[in-house]
Order: sequence, then C-alpha cells, then structure tokens
Amino acid sequence: MELKNSILKKRLPKHIAIIMDGNGRWAKQQGMIRAFGHENGTKSVKQTVEACAELGVENLTLYAFSTENWNRPKLEVQTLMKLLVSSLKKEIKTLQENNIKLSAIGSLGTLPKKVHNELFQVIESTKHNSRMTLTLALSYGSREEIINTVKEISIKVKNNIISAENIDESIINEHLYTQNLPDVDLLIRTSGEQRISNFLLWQIAYAELYFTSVLWPDFTKQHLYEAIIEYQKRERRFGKTSEQLS
Ligand code: IPE
Ligand code: IPE
Ligand code: MG
Repeated sequence: MELKNSILKKRLPKHIAIIMDGNGRWAKQQGMIRAFGHENGTKSVKQTVEACAELGVENLTLYAFSTENWNRPKLEVQTLMKLLVSSLKKEIKTLQENNIKLSAIGSLGTLPKKVHNELFQVIESTKHNSRMTLTLALSYGSREEIINTVKEISIKVKNNIISAENIDESIINEHLYTQNLPDVDLLIRTSGEQRISNFLLWQIAYAELYFTSVLWPDFTKQHLYEAIIEYQKRERRFGKTSEQLS
C-alpha cells in the first residue's frame, strides 16, 4: 500500500515545524561546495510544502535562517539571502496555485532590503489564501522572540494597557511572532542532529519530536509521510494518564 494512504486524515497534526538541516553535509558528500546543498534544499522545501497542502495540514513552519546563522562566513550568508529572493520569486506561482498563505517570523527588520521587499510582496499577494499557512522562520531565534515579547508586554504594563497580574499564557501567545499559529504538534529535524537550536522554544512545549538522519536535500514527500505516520502512533497524554484518554 502506498505510504500516503496509511495517514489518518482525522489525526493530522495541525501544525508541523521543520528544522531543515544537513545541506552542507549533503554537498560535501557530493564533493561540492555548501551553496550546492542549499540550492538542492529548495527542492525539498517545494516537496514538503506541496505534500502538506495536499494532505490538509493547516500550518507548516520552516526554519530557514537562525539568528545564529548570521555568524556564518559572509559569502554563505549572501548565498542564502540570494537563494531566498530567487525562491520567493519562483515559488509564488506554487503558493497561488495551492492556495497557500505565506507568513514570516523572526527579526525581519535585520534582513537585507531585497529579501525584505520580496518577502513582503509575496506575503501581501497571498494574504487571502486559506488552504494552508506557510511560515518561514527568518533571522529567527526563540530567545530573541521571547525578549521581544517581554519588551512589548512591559511597555503595555507601563502604559496601563495590561495589568501585570493578568499576564497569562494567552497574553504571551498573543505577543510572540507566532501569535496567529496554534502550538506545534510535530517537530521534525533532519540530518541526525538531535537538538532544538533556538527554534520555537515556547511553542514546542508539548510537540512530538521526530528526528531523522536523512539530510535535508534528500528529504521527500515519502519522508514526510513517514514522520506523520510515526506521529499518529504516539499517545499524546498532556500530563494525563493513558486511561483518562480512552
Ligand atoms: C541547513 O543546512 C541550512 C541552514 C542552516 C541555513 P546546514 O547549512 O546547517 O548544513 P550542515 O548542518 O552544515 O550540514
Ligand atoms: C538550525 O540549523 C537552523 C536552521 C535550520 C535554519 P543549524 O545547522 O544552524 O544548527 P546547529 O548549529 O547545528 O545547531
Ligand atoms: Mg546545520
């Protein structure tokens, strides 16, 4: 039976987040420079986005560039930024055809002007799409996001818009970059690394974690199906006992 048919439509994760890792190692295996790995990684992005939309996953968030990635060699950062612009230009068609809304989280003001402009053009032109929200984490770091959230809430407390006693989970949620997104249900990381690397620390509090040794440029629709099937086998207890759930 085809893998896709084993997926239970009723128990789809509402929000999948992916740490797309291993482009550099993939290129090295081929005897090529790192940029070649990043270029090939964009094919996996397309496959994953299409697969999620086809299945009916409502939210997909991709870690594309972290706040720490600014510390990479200048040339690699430039390559990644150029690739972002060209991918956005190229894939706007895929987004429109599949009725996908683009969104972005991160310290977006720090992105080069060209990237920022292209990004916001695509966000604007897809804002009425409703089948799935694709969120790109760009210049994103969870700690930076939390600092930003604390600052915004502090200002509101100071100006008597919020009282300190009333600060709760929902107020914090509303001030995170992910304000319109539900919690992450399934977090996938490729390349065999088993760490979070400053991604969505608050939002993955109860996510199911899935690690695969597949390098990101080798990641296909089939690998995504495997991850979802594994997710559907897990019992999400949220602190309760197994008996309470049945
Ligand atoms: C993921 O692949 C892409 C980004 C972090 C931008 P890497 O570039 O981290 O590849 P490896 O981990 O060095 O193999
Ligand atoms: C995490 O990958 C960031 C992205 C996938 C964009 P890294 O390759 O930068 O993470 P570390 O350095 O291995 O933790
Ligand atoms: Mg890496």
